[in-house]
Amino acid sequence: MNDADAQKRAAGEAAAALVDSGMVVGLGTGSTAAWFVKAVAARGLDITCVATSAATADLARDLGLKLADLGEVREIDLTVDGADEIGPGLSLIKGGGGALLREKLVWEASRRCVVIADAAKRVPVLGQFPLPVEVVAFGHPTTALRICDALAECDLGAAARLRSRDGAVVRTDSGNVIYDIPCGRIEDPAALAAALKSVTGVVDHGLFLDLADLALIGAPDGVVSLEP
Ligand code: A5P
Repeated sequence: MNDADAQKRAAGEAAAALVDSGMVVGLGTGSTAAWFVKAVAARGLDITCVATSAATADLARDLGLKLADLGEVREIDLTVDGADEIGPGLSLIKGGGGALLREKLVWEASRRCVVIADAAKRVPVLGQFPLPVEVVAFGHPTTALRICDALAECDLGAAARLRSRDGAVVRTDSGNVIYDIPCGRIEDPAALAAALKSVTGVVDHGLFLDLADLALIGAPDGVVSLEP
């Protein structure tokens, strides 16, 4: 296991200690969240889980965790999830794994959200990691042009790159496509978030602002806790 993986694992295991029996728990997506899912399952608690992707649901089911749909639970007590970048005030870029829409639905339904990551995810300014934007498939190239107009209004001249894998356009669990936007530096994340949401056809974006209550970040000498 390399250093980054060890840090992800340590962060996931630290987050698993926050879970108590009887809780409804949101399960994030990605390699760091997978460590959390495994650590929670190993504790053998009586919990109900809401998964943020089909991949996480498969993992949780294999590990014997009890799953519910988001619509079946009134509220989620605690959600634990990874991130692609962690910036000032625990502002986040998420969606590198393509699960940003379900992740945001679960985060917003949660009383407490904990982000877990390896130390390399901390950045002074968001934007080095290309920002994922989930777009309705119908007419998406036209929507992409309108996204570029919205970026220009935020003084970001970035292009929007349609996400594909092995020559095929990636579809999300909800059947949408994703554009990745290499912004460079996002000086005003709230303004960019509002501009992107104003484009018809944009379902959501990977900026998670004012949502994380705590970060648990693996480091060479242990796990560091950060609050907004
Ligand atoms: C999934 O869509 C993402 O938001 C992930 O949480 C994010 O990409 C972090 O993934 P890793 O934990 O694999 O780095």
